[in-house]
Amino acid sequence: MITERNGWFFLSTAHSSYIMRISSLGHMEHIHYGGYIPASAEGTFWIQGPDDLRLGDGTYYDEDHQHSFLGRMLCEYSTPGKGDTRESALIVEYGNGLITLDLLHQSHRIYPGKDYDILPRVSASDAETLEIVLRDAVLPVFATLRYTVYKEEDIILRSAEIRNECDEDIMLRTVSSVMLDLPDSEWDLISFDGAWARERYENRRALCPGVISVDSKLGFTSSEHNSLLFLARPDADDSHGEAIAVNQIYSGNHLERVEVSPFGFCRVLSSINPFGFGWKLGNGESFRSPEAILSYSSSGLDSLSYNLHRFAVKYIENSIYKDKIRPIAINNWEATYFDFNEKKLMDLAVKAESAGIELFVLDDGWYGRRSDDTRGLGDWVVNRKKLPGGLDGFVRGIHDLGMKAGIWVEPEMVSMDSALYETHPDWMVAIPGRKPSPGRHQYLLDLSRPEVVDYLFSAMSEVFSSGVDYVKWDANRNMSDYFTSSSAVKWQGEFFHRYILGLYSLLDRLTKAFPSILFEFCASGGNRFDLGALSFSPQGWTSDNTDAMSRIRIQHGTFRGYPLSSVSNHVTASPNHQSLRITGLEDRFGVACFGILGYELDLGKLSEEELGVIKEQIAFYKEHRKTLQYGAFRHLPSSDGAVFWMAESDDEMIVLEYQDRNMVNTGRHRRLRIPHADPASLYSVQRREKHVFKEDLGDLWESYSAVSHEPYSITVSGHVLCSAGVALPPLFMGRGFEPSTRILNDNGSDLYVIRKVR
Ligand code: GLA
Repeated sequence: MITERNGWFFLSTAHSSYIMRISSLGHMEHIHYGGYIPASAEGTFWIQGPDDLRLGDGTYYDEDHQHSFLGRMLCEYSTPGKGDTRESALIVEYGNGLITLDLLHQSHRIYPGKDYDILPRVSASDAETLEIVLRDAVLPVFATLRYTVYKEEDIILRSAEIRNECDEDIMLRTVSSVMLDLPDSEWDLISFDGAWARERYENRRALCPGVISVDSKLGFTSSEHNSLLFLARPDADDSHGEAIAVNQIYSGNHLERVEVSPFGFCRVLSSINPFGFGWKLGNGESFRSPEAILSYSSSGLDSLSYNLHRFAVKYIENSIYKDKIRPIAINNWEATYFDFNEKKLMDLAVKAESAGIELFVLDDGWYGRRSDDTRGLGDWVVNRKKLPGGLDGFVRGIHDLGMKAGIWVEPEMVSMDSALYETHPDWMVAIPGRKPSPGRHQYLLDLSRPEVVDYLFSAMSEVFSSGVDYVKWDANRNMSDYFTSSSAVKWQGEFFHRYILGLYSLLDRLTKAFPSILFEFCASGGNRFDLGALSFSPQGWTSDNTDAMSRIRIQHGTFRGYPLSSVSNHVTASPNHQSLRITGLEDRFGVACFGILGYELDLGKLSEEELGVIKEQIAFYKEHRKTLQYGAFRHLPSSDGAVFWMAESDDEMIVLEYQDRNMVNTGRHRRLRIPHADPASLYSVQRREKHVFKEDLGDLWESYSAVSHEPYSITVSGHVLCSAGVALPPLFMGRGFEPSTRILNDNGSDLYVIRKVR
């Protein structure tokens, strides 16, 4: 809900308020973002108090306003040159390199929904928008700030549009989607950083004076730094305390900055990365920043994530699958790599189907000359030596087994050894006169050129018309040799953003033309895990690293900003192909079942015993997948070196207990505690019966088998669960087996199903 009174704006969600006002000089002054304060509350003036400070060496606005220091004001959208020397939200170059701008309130309006449409498309059916138009004090340069308020989800969607009415061109150097000034800097900054195969590791540090920035210059969101950022009070944890989230709905270069000013204020900025960016605006032209979301919670990081998850599914995802149960996949990549033929694939599919798997995904290598990763990208025509019946024939074969059929594509790329490159060498991103640098032996197609997008639309339409039900959209290199030969581009500084706009238009056309296809994004694993990608495809390949121990960190960081239903995880072979780590089959499943489950290993190499175990895993997942895909994700208190995750729906809670290392002789029971359990209710707690393999126990197998092992199934009051927690059965301690002893190896996990019985 949005209220305006005497130049004050109150943006209220269920549990938060965003307040700003027009200052006496006409600047937009930020007042508050945090806990809920009704617009009717008395004394909001005293949140900031009067402007009565004098500063030693500060620049004040003019002689008539000697107390007006923009450098110590909480601003809404800052520009350089009038006393605010903190990081600017907007930098515009005009004249002979001038950058001073002074944005003053010109008009505003409040209206239901959202009356502009940009890609990625974010809906706003039951939301409300405030639009504030600012104009420079001298030049006809305008900034329109937009705030769309989603009450139930505690989300504010923000963006800025810059318009030039000057006769001369102006050059945009920095355009932020969000700027947020906070009155103190008692916050920790949490970012999600990494590299290939270790994406989105959570990093938390206290703020201190100066600027901290995280960004991507890779052309994609990147696995190096995600665009998601949390600020958390130093005492805030998963279930307590104040925290704020910011995330852009964008898949290109981004920059997040957090600055602590000399006066101890905190400024947060989320922008298109100014690196290599320059956007010329002629008279009458405008530029729209990507949209970004802000969310606030006073009850810890999990509840902040819950806001982001609900919002992503409801408003950002556009696929018809956004709230539907997702199929369990078998993917042939780590089962065969490039070495396959139709028989090999069908054998894998038959085995998968009999285990209960629902979708067969044919990964890289099915087209053109693609026999390894040095060739073939760009030639999206089936290789009949591998698939003599063509793609249609293959898809039919999979459908005849009663499975859905999926295909891998990497449309944005080209190999030099390809027919596409021979025909259109100029479509490749390369600077005339320079040899372009490859990544994984491949090059980027120039998606800022409409003819390239048109070609890809028709090439992909052809592939998707084979009857496939699922598409894995990959992109396996970052950008280099930044250059576009598009005639529409006025300045090479437009390259990065034009590419992303080209990608979005391609995805928009294809997802509209093939609405019944389930898309999954991928980019060298999780190099493009962002809300922009989620707008077109409701799930993403989280990481090429499927090792359970690594995935605990990767999925944890990903769940901070992205819903369970977007996080795709596969059970793969052991030793793991990325880490060489050995992890039990049941333990690999324990971690992979939190989100969208799949398998990616040669089922033909497994024993009947292992296949039987997979069958049971799949039956368990199907029974609980509504919770595992759409439940609310929470962290439970850790206990004795184990991590506890929960997915919670109206009907049940599924809990994962995971340990990196098996400690010997701890002498204690680990505890499972659910702080938010309802004290008035009675709960059943059941452990999923895991299969124990002889190889897990070696010489001890006989003594283990001599004991009859008890299932763990108890009934306890919510009082017990929330206040004390329950003792879990003892782990094997190196001293024989009791009926209750459980086996949890290194990287070991157990799953529990908890239901209210009264
Ligand atoms: C990338 C993906 C993998 C696989 C290969 C195929 O690395 O992340 O899952 O699809 O490409 O080349």
